[in-house]
Amino acid sequence: MSPWRVRSLEEADLDQVVRIWEEARDTTADPAVSLAEVVGALHADAPAVVAVVGDQVVGAVVSSVAQERAWVLRLAIARQWRRHGIGSALLAALEERLGQVGVRRIGALLPEGEVGEQAFANSGYTGRPDLGYFEKQLTGDSAEATMLDQLGGEVPAEGLWDGIAGMSEEKTLIERRLVLPLENPAVAERYRLVPPRAVVLFGPPGTGKTTFARAVASRLRWPFIEVFPYQLADDAHGVAAGLRRLFARVEHLEEAVLFFDEAEEIASERLDPTTLAHRVTNELLKLIPQFRRGKRRLLICATNAVRSLDPAFLRPGRFDYLIPVGPPDAEARRAIWIRYIGPDRAAGIELDALVEASDRFTPADIEYAAHTAAQRAFERHLAVGPQQSADRTQLTGDYLQAIAHTRTSLTEEDIRAFDHDLRAAARV
Ligand SMILES: Nc1ncnc2c1ncn2[C@@H]1O[C@H](COP(=O)(O)OP(=O)(O)OP(=O)(O)O)[C@@H](O)[C@H]1O
Ligand SMILES: [Mg+2]
Repeated sequence: MSPWRVRSLEEADLDQVVRIWEEARDTTADPAVSLAEVVGALHADAPAVVAVVGDQVVGAVVSSVAQERAWVLRLAIARQWRRHGIGSALLAALEERLGQVGVRRIGALLPEGEVGEQAFANSGYTGRPDLGYFEKQLTGDSAEATMLDQLGGEVPAEGLWDGIAGMSEEKTLIERRLVLPLENPAVAERYRLVPPRAVVLFGPPGTGKTTFARAVASRLRWPFIEVFPYQLADDAHGVAAGLRRLFARVEHLEEAVLFFDEAEEIASERLDPTTLAHRVTNELLKLIPQFRRGKRRLLICATNAVRSLDPAFLRPGRFDYLIPVGPPDAEARRAIWIRYIGPDRAAGIELDALVEASDRFTPADIEYAAHTAAQRAFERHLAVGPQQSADRTQLTGDYLQAIAHTRTSLTEEDIRAFDHDLRAAARV
């Protein structure tokens, strides 16, 4: 009895299958069908079988079907398992499945000298040396643009990075760890620095996590795709299937920043294995390794509650960094006030008083308070005309009043929890 057996390919095999495909190539010629296309076909439930020894996948074949014609997209056999008849067995099993769905003709395109030639010959396939292969790349752009459109992604406006006021610690960290290595892959490579593929930004609400993620995409000039857990839930096949579909689509993009807001919703601790959250977290854990293989892709997960993320999710190997984005300190608050008041107007205001009164404000709170004060000043202008003699105290008073009417989003408790997370979870 042979030590291996053949069965249908399952979702959970994907990681191993991709590894074999990458490791067991025999030629340097690019295959006719890219890995992304093969993975795409698998996600679309194309017929595929694997050979396994125990839990280990040692060979795989994937096809795609168009009416009565099928194509073998990829055949691979782990090196140490060559010459055991696995190739022929895989093809036989695939043939059986294709026969069942009405296929009458199977084709395969192989670079010369690639594994499988023998298996195809042994399985009754005839070589067609008289045929030439022609290929044309449709402007990557149009196909990509469609995909991006479906994903609701676009390259953010330029200059968002410079629009982030203050927060110099976070800015420096995010620039050094994320932006620069991704912007300069050749230099990174020279020092064996692997640029990041996936990171978590954590911190209280309104501190600028989404703003930073978007600004990173803006710096890189990569499309930004924002995912909300509730959108995934709209998928007819459930959140886990929605996640798979999303990741399969992202595989087709040249480059992208994929942003998950409220990551705790989809990656919460798997306390109860029967819950939906449990299945979704598992799914995400499985999808990340494949995502990490893309060189020009970055997954950013943002969360207010890094504590409630599943520990397996946070183990090294999945996320390169866990970066805190905390409440702004006095210096950051000053910069943010100036951003929202405008440098000209700010010159006529007691900024120190604003900075002090807005302790525990997030950037979002400052933005809101500045807006409220602007609205008051605007209404007064319409009612009584421009204020000729508005003095420093009066102008400052407008802002202080607005501050007094703004509810801070940060509680003592939030700040304590963040300080705790900072010590317990940050990995920078
Ligand atoms: N450093 C900053 N300078 C100027 N504006 C900022 C800054 N950080 C955040 N903001 C503004 O504050 C608001 C909230 O920021 P953002 O949505 O990025 O916070 P968040 O951390 O993602 O919040 P949540 O946890 O609620 O998702 C946005 O309108 C953003 O423009
Ligand atoms: Mg956000």
